[in-house]
Amino acid sequence: TAPVVETDVLVVGSGPAGASAALFLSSLGISNIMITKYRWTANTPRAHITNQRTMEIFRDLGIEDQVLADATPHELVGDTVFCTTIAGEEIGRILTWETHPAREADARLASPSLTVDIPQTYLEPILVKNATQRGTQSRFSTEYLGHTQDADGVSTRVLDRVTGTEYTIRSKYLIGGDGARSQVAADLGLPMEGAMDIAGSMNITFKADLTDLVGHRPSVLYWVLQPGSDVGGIGAGLVRMVRPWNEWLIVWGYDISGEPPQLDDAAAAEIVRQLVGVDDLDVEITGYSLWGNNQMYATHLQQGRVFCAGDAIHRHPPSNGLGSNTSVQDSYNLAWKIAAVLNGQAAPSLLDTYSAERAPVAEQIVLRANKSGGEFRFMEVLGVLDAETPEAMQAAIDERKANTPAGAAKRAALVEAMDLKNYEFNAHGVDMGQFYESAAVVPDGSPKPVDERDPELYYKQSTVPGARFPHVWVADVDGYKRSTHDLVPYGQFTLVTGIAGEAWADAAAKVAEELGVPLEAVVIGPGRDVIDTYYDWAKMRGVEESGAILVRPDAHVAWRAQTLADDPAGALGDALRSVLGRS
Ligand code: FDA
Repeated sequence: TAPVVETDVLVVGSGPAGASAALFLSSLGISNIMITKYRWTANTPRAHITNQRTMEIFRDLGIEDQVLADATPHELVGDTVFCTTIAGEEIGRILTWETHPAREADARLASPSLTVDIPQTYLEPILVKNATQRGTQSRFSTEYLGHTQDADGVSTRVLDRVTGTEYTIRSKYLIGGDGARSQVAADLGLPMEGAMDIAGSMNITFKADLTDLVGHRPSVLYWVLQPGSDVGGIGAGLVRMVRPWNEWLIVWGYDISGEPPQLDDAAAAEIVRQLVGVDDLDVEITGYSLWGNNQMYATHLQQGRVFCAGDAIHRHPPSNGLGSNTSVQDSYNLAWKIAAVLNGQAAPSLLDTYSAERAPVAEQIVLRANKSGGEFRFMEVLGVLDAETPEAMQAAIDERKANTPAGAAKRAALVEAMDLKNYEFNAHGVDMGQFYESAAVVPDGSPKPVDERDPELYYKQSTVPGARFPHVWVADVDGYKRSTHDLVPYGQFTLVTGIAGEAWADAAAKVAEELGVPLEAVVIGPGRDVIDTYYDWAKMRGVEESGAILVRPDAHVAWRAQTLADDPAGALGDALRSVLGRS
C-alpha cells in the first residue's frame, strides 16, 4: 500500500487563493503541502487588477517589490476608454483604479500601496516561489480526489498524474482553493446561493502592437460598444492590456442559450480586428476559450477541519476586479487563525470566525460584480440597441453631436452613464471597507464606519473594532517613513498606544507571557520608537492618547480601549482571550 504523507495543512490549488494560503502558512512556520492538478500555474492571464488591500498584504509578506517588478504600474492603469473601436470614435474616458487626482488622494491617504495590474500568469509564480522557498511542499500534476475527516484530522486521496499512483495525505486541516468548479466545496456540500453560467463570454489572447492607438491614453481596459456587445459577456466588448502595449486579451460575449460559437484562429483574428477597428491589423492569436459568467456564493465556508477559499466560495464576472483580490484576502483571514490554533494559542472555535467574517464578503462582492456588469448604460443611452445596421448605429451615436434637444438629452444621459461606472472602476469602499463582526472581534458599541458620501465609492478609515487598521505615515527613530501598517505584521498581535498609555506596553508583555501569544506593543510619540511626525496618527487613532488598539495579525482591529484602564493587563488579557476563544 502507498505510504501516507503527513503535514499540518493541505492546500488544494495553486491559484491566488491556494498559493497565497500556502505562502501565509509557510511564513507563519506552519508545515503545509500545496497540490495542484496541472504541471504549472495559470496558463492564461485571467485576473489582473490587484487592489490596494491586496498590495498591502503583499507588502506585509515582504513580496510587494517582487509584484511591482512584474506589474504594470499604477500610473499606466487608469485612462479607461469607451469607444466604438479602438481606432474609431471615442465616447469618453474615465480615470479608473484611483488614478483621478481626487481619488488618487483618497487612495494615497488610505494605504501605503497603490492598485497595479499584474496578470495571474505573473502573480501566481511569485506566490508559489515564495511559498515554496519558505517551506511549502509544492506538488504539481497532483489531483485532489476526495477526503474524509475525523476528530483528529483529514485524510485526502490524491492522484499523482505523472506516475498514475494514488496516495493519501493526512493533515490536521484542509483548504480547498480549487476554483469555481471546486470539488472540495462540492464534497463538503457547502450551501450555495445563485446560479452558474448565466451569460456566455469568450476570451481571446493575442499579440499586436497597439502603441499608436493607446499610448496617449494608457489604460488596462478599452471598452468597445458595437452591435452585439450587449449580448452575454460582461456589459460590453473589452480589449484588455496584458502587457503594454503588445499583448492583449479580448472578452466578447455570446448568447449562452444558443449554440456555443466555433472559434478558430481566423474567427478569433476577425473579432480582434473588428474590436480594434483596423482591417489589416497584424495580429498573432495566442489562445481562445469560452467561459460562463457566474453569480454564486457560499453562505457557509467550512465544515469541521475543512475550509474553502477563493472562487470555490465566490463566483462572479471580472467586473470590479475582485476575483483574485478577494481570494488572497480570504486566505489572509484564514491562515493566521489556523496557525494560532495549531500553535495552541487559540481555541478551535477561532476557526468558526472564518465563515462568519468572509461569507458576508463573498456575498457582497458577487452581487457587486454582477451589478456592475449590468451597469453599462451606453448602448441604451446612445440609442443604438435597436440599430440594425452599422449605419443606423453610427447615426444614433452621431446624434450626441447635434445642437438639438435630442442631442442635448443624449449628452446629459452620457454624463450619468459615465458616472455610474465609478461603481465598477473606483469602488474604493468596496475594495478597502471590509468589516468583520464575529467572535474574533470585541465590539465597543461604535457603529460600523462608513463614508457618508457613498459607502461603496468611498472608504472611511477607522479603528472601530472589526475595521481594517488605518494607515498613516509615521517615522522611525532615524526619521524614515513607515506606514502604521508596517507596525502590525502578520506574525503577531500588536497593541498600539501613545505615551500616556505606556502602561499598556507593560501589560502587553505580561499578557503575551501569560497566554503564550505573540503580542508586541508599539508606543507612538516623540522620543519613542515610532514618531507621529506628521501628527496624523493623533487624528486617526480614534482613542485618547492613553487608550490602546489591539490589532490582529490580519491588520483588523480586534479591540480598543478609549483610555488607560485601571488594570491594563486584566483588560487586555480579557480582550485577547475573548478573541482567541479562550474565555
Ligand atoms: P483558481 O481557479 O485561480 O485556481 C484553482 C486552482 O485549483 C488551480 O491551481 C487548479 O489547478 C486547482 N485545482 C482545481 N481542481 C483541482 C483538483 N481536483 N485537484 C488539484 N488541484 C485542483 N478575474 C478577474 O478579476 N479578472 C479577469 O479578467 C478574470 N478573467 C478570467 C478568465 C478566465 C478564463 C477564468 C477561468 C477566470 C477569470 N477570472 C478573472 C477569475 C479569476 O481568475 C479568479 O477569481 C481567481 O483565479 C480565483 O482564484 P482561486 O485561487 O480561487 O481559483
